[in-house]
Amino acid sequence: MCGIIGYASKNLDSCSVALSCLKNLEYRGYDSSGVATSEQGKINMYKAQGKIANLEEKIKDHEISASTAIAHTRWATHGEPSETNAHPHKVGHVTLVHNGIIENYSDIKQDLLSKGMNFVSETDSEVACGYINYMYEQTGDKMASIKAACDEFRGSYALPIIFDDEPNTIYAVRKNSPLIVGKSDDGNFVSSDVSAILNYTNKYVLLDNDEFVKVTNDNVEIFDSNLNKIEKKVDTATWSAVEYQKNGYDHFMLKEIYEQPKVVKNILGKFYDDIDFTKYDNIHIVACGSAMHAGMVAKYLLENNAKIRTTVEIASEYRYKENLITPSTLVIIISQSGETADTLAALRLAKEQGAYVLAIVNVVGSSIAREADKTIYTYAGPEIAVATTKGYSSQVATLTNVALTIMKQKGLLEDSVMDTFYKDIEKIETLAEDLINSRDMYKAIANKLYTHENVLYIGRGIDSASCMEGSLKLKEISYIHSEAYAAGELKHGTISLVDQGTPVITIATVDNLYEKTISNLKETKARGGYTLLITTENQNVDNIKDSLDDVIILPKVSEFLESLLVVIVLQLIAYETAILRGADIDKPKNLAKSVTVE
Ligand code: G6P
Repeated sequence: MCGIIGYASKNLDSCSVALSCLKNLEYRGYDSSGVATSEQGKINMYKAQGKIANLEEKIKDHEISASTAIAHTRWATHGEPSETNAHPHKVGHVTLVHNGIIENYSDIKQDLLSKGMNFVSETDSEVACGYINYMYEQTGDKMASIKAACDEFRGSYALPIIFDDEPNTIYAVRKNSPLIVGKSDDGNFVSSDVSAILNYTNKYVLLDNDEFVKVTNDNVEIFDSNLNKIEKKVDTATWSAVEYQKNGYDHFMLKEIYEQPKVVKNILGKFYDDIDFTKYDNIHIVACGSAMHAGMVAKYLLENNAKIRTTVEIASEYRYKENLITPSTLVIIISQSGETADTLAALRLAKEQGAYVLAIVNVVGSSIAREADKTIYTYAGPEIAVATTKGYSSQVATLTNVALTIMKQKGLLEDSVMDTFYKDIEKIETLAEDLINSRDMYKAIANKLYTHENVLYIGRGIDSASCMEGSLKLKEISYIHSEAYAAGELKHGTISLVDQGTPVITIATVDNLYEKTISNLKETKARGGYTLLITTENQNVDNIKDSLDDVIILPKVSEFLESLLVVIVLQLIAYETAILRGADIDKPKNLAKSVTVE
């Protein structure tokens, strides 16, 4: 969740370099930030509440010449966002920043309090710092004291650490929170992800759980869990720094929406014949957030077309229940970041229980990608906006290919289906671009939505899954409460929310469900709702004009592709509504892009 960076430089620019890298990690958390610097052998700390810009403002009048720096941008877990709770934390000889959660910190804290130690913050991270300091005072050995402390910690951590008496060295360790080492001619980094350091280097080493590292400006040493020195492969990042810029767009989210047509076009149409799907008679799709919604969309394609029983599970639930995995269960794990804690834990559980795990992941080399039996990368490029757009669509496109591959392997794929599919793939990029370019249409609808506090999304079949994603997008970035409902279920309770003017967005793109969905739309109109219908050009909307306040007509494409067009409309309605409400589009309050804690 939190972003961390450490830099040991050959020049005295560690602080400014660390802060410029930290800005690339702000999507991981922006409640507060801070940096610890080694200036002429002395450790100084600077912290600020809120975004990194506040920290920069605070230190702009200091002339900082730092050989080493560790910096942090926080998504609060223990203790409110405040300067006191902001990282770095310093106890005794030890200064550190932390990403993750030390689950047993209360017990450790009690123990340290009874030994006379004091803490100023409410964080688990300060307790971790205190415990390492305590071990260091006992042993006098830095690496051994970090290891001894880690042996006690339960939970997740990536911890860059500086000791007062060796201020130009960064020690670090990771468990269940990401950490990489970056190598450059000017110095060496530790970071929560490669993207942060791309302006300085594309050479990096992925650290595994329980590995330790000692970084100076001209040397990197890596150790295994028994503190034996090991050699690790140096990788070269393929994403470039320019992909992390807004490139003229007002927001990363908008840029990423505009990138979508190309991303899905590049994915669609591939068969994954190196996997024998005929071995499985049921699929568990496990994910969080929008990735789970991508799974919901896929469930309709997999069950209706590939005729394979598919359950879609929230990872935080899956990891704590009986999932009845059998030898013929295929587990598909979906994650843009590849680091979501609950999803990763669900993957491990499924493997432990003997399932074959296929992962669909965007970030190359991420934990989920590395631990799955097989990974299909979506190659959507870096996604910076917290609210996912192209990440989600790339997952749906990949799962569409999975469904078609299963159909092919089972002999269910008719030539006519493939013909329409391939013909439509050729058009999808242009069709999606045209939809994105209809910005005025979304602005007009946003004007009708933005003053409301409740919005309903209804649809049937695959459209009900798209509703979930549309509703989440609106909630995430505009802070309007919304609910997604299977249209047929609405009258079993939720229709009580419909009053004069309540916005109800109905999606009806499935031919054999169209009329039934329209009946549900009419029920909301009869209760005074504002009705927006999203449907396809083959439907006759003239005869229901009286029930409609607004309508968006989409091109009719293969049933495998329609939801990819629908979601663009939903994303842009959410985007334009959030703009009118003056919300922070790319960094919505309380959210983080990469959720590496439970
Ligand atoms: C966070 C993000 C969501 C994302 C979810 C799962 O909540 O804000 O956009 O869908 O995590 O993330 P993942 O990286 O596993 O796809």
